[in-house]
Amino acid sequence: MTTTHDGKNRTRNAKLLAWVDEMARLCTPDRIYWCDGSQEEYERICQQAVESGTFIRLNPDKRPNSFLARSHPSDVARVENRTFICSEKEEDAGPTNNWMAPAKMRARLKELFSGCMRGRTMYIIPFSMGPLGSPMAHIGIEITDSAYVVANQRIMTRMGQAALDVLGEDGEFVPCMHSVGAPLEIGEQDVPWPCTPTIEDKYITHFPETREIWSFGSGYGGNALLGKKCFALRIASVMARDQGWLAEHMLILGVEPPNGGAKRYVAAAFPSACGKTNFAMLIPPTGLEGWKVTTVGDDIAWIKPNPDDDTFYGINPEYGYFGVAPGTNATSNPNALATLRANVIFTNTALTDDGDIWWEGLTDEPPAHLIDWQGNDWNPGCGRMAAHPNSRFTAPAAQCPSIDPEWENPRGVPISAFLFGGRVSKHFPLVFQSYNWEHGVYMAATMGSEATAAAIGQAGMRRDPMAMLPFCGYNMAEYWKHWLRIGRRDAATPPYIFRVNWFRKNEHGHFIWPGFGENMRVLKWVIDRCDGRAGAIEGPLGWLPAYEDIDWTGIDFPRAAFFAMMNIHKEVARQETVDQEELFTRFGDHLPREMELQRELQLARLYHSPEVWDLSRARRR
Ligand code: OXD
Ligand code: MN
Repeated sequence: MTTTHDGKNRTRNAKLLAWVDEMARLCTPDRIYWCDGSQEEYERICQQAVESGTFIRLNPDKRPNSFLARSHPSDVARVENRTFICSEKEEDAGPTNNWMAPAKMRARLKELFSGCMRGRTMYIIPFSMGPLGSPMAHIGIEITDSAYVVANQRIMTRMGQAALDVLGEDGEFVPCMHSVGAPLEIGEQDVPWPCTPTIEDKYITHFPETREIWSFGSGYGGNALLGKKCFALRIASVMARDQGWLAEHMLILGVEPPNGGAKRYVAAAFPSACGKTNFAMLIPPTGLEGWKVTTVGDDIAWIKPNPDDDTFYGINPEYGYFGVAPGTNATSNPNALATLRANVIFTNTALTDDGDIWWEGLTDEPPAHLIDWQGNDWNPGCGRMAAHPNSRFTAPAAQCPSIDPEWENPRGVPISAFLFGGRVSKHFPLVFQSYNWEHGVYMAATMGSEATAAAIGQAGMRRDPMAMLPFCGYNMAEYWKHWLRIGRRDAATPPYIFRVNWFRKNEHGHFIWPGFGENMRVLKWVIDRCDGRAGAIEGPLGWLPAYEDIDWTGIDFPRAAFFAMMNIHKEVARQETVDQEELFTRFGDHLPREMELQRELQLARLYHSPEVWDLSRARRR
């Protein structure tokens, strides 16, 4: 083999060295490069990506040390129908995951990866998910032939020699094997965004029993930055089940009340592209300026109950944000804009004539001319989007002005409440609290949400239990059992559980709730509930705030609009509860009995409810 080893990193971890050798024999790269994680290396790899056409360097006066990458038009989002959980038994993957027998998938992968790095460099990326050396962190090693992946992983994870040092000589790691596919023919020039030409040739595969990840054919973030969805959610959810913790599609934020009141942390799950990053970086609105929200993480939380103090502690295993760009602006998320001032990789946004980026919603008025995400001339009347709806930024978390001072605390931060929110434009209240843990798990498990651009080919409306439908690495019903168990067994007082919905629309199709900073009002009620300071009214779906329980200082939000958002239409809610049976029956004997019991209880409550359960008429009990 003509392979040369390069890079400063060295490890004496025998298992790692043997695996790298085996992968090099399989993929036959021209070079092997061990990433050390240094700034010098980052700059060098980005410069090489500029020279090969993968990156465009942005104007350093406008956006220092930042780049734009344009993907192949077929490689713009996660591919859920090409994502597989290859457990030994099909029922262990469960009815919501694609499954293939491990032996069959391994044979297929062997064919695909054979010689796939010919003409390319094989990069070895050691990384830590979680603060280096934290007892809650885990090490992964990604092997990839993509410079784009290397640069992004340096932002998204703690990457390089430091992770190898933590790994030591005999530490455990999750092997994460990645190739963009499409080997180079001798003499062929590099293409800016190599990937397999059709979606059917992409494979995002997970082996939960052996805790391995193999991803072929895509360079898109969720498919290729394997520390994120593949490791920190799909494989980690299996580790969490076995080890008594939770790996969740959740942001974590801190809330500090005015006048030195106790700070609280909240973890919140929303499906992809439903505003997790905006919520995590919320700036309190006029009237609630004394409150402060700080950001621990915007996408993934690893949470562990500590039996010593009966508290759940959470970390953000990531080191950066891979956020949805469109809609991000100085009103919706000023903290994100400040985070993006430098050192960012943009993917599939538009390019301005002065070498900066633009996307729909960044400014009220679009520029008169742009280069769109596919590299074509664009002007406001041309009828096409300038940025792809799932265009992204990759930015260092430490640059966020609202970053929480404890975000790298190796023990994590104490979590007081869990929020679960879908995107539901009709008939779903702004916020309510569960009666208890079991009921909360049921509320989260039956969550529904409307489609977004974060994955290719989503149905219009789908159930997305805990916002984990595309990310749970095992049978979803067993995951619900794990949730039930963990609240019952591992802490006498688990976090309170709430459902939220920012997206209800009126009969004219306009959002009723202004959202963004105004969500602080909901958050304040949540915190006040945790502290026993706020009232609530018992409704058929849970505990709801009365108009007076929400702090309206600084906003003139009409009572009628609030009630329009909070009312529960009996027939709609009943039908929704009936429909949940379809989800539950898919799981057969795996379904925890508590889930069906909670559904029956909800039907019984709705049976006694008026046609429209009207919060304005409800009484405190
Ligand atoms: C993400 C996603 O990229 O959920 O975070 O798709
Ligand atoms: Mn996500």
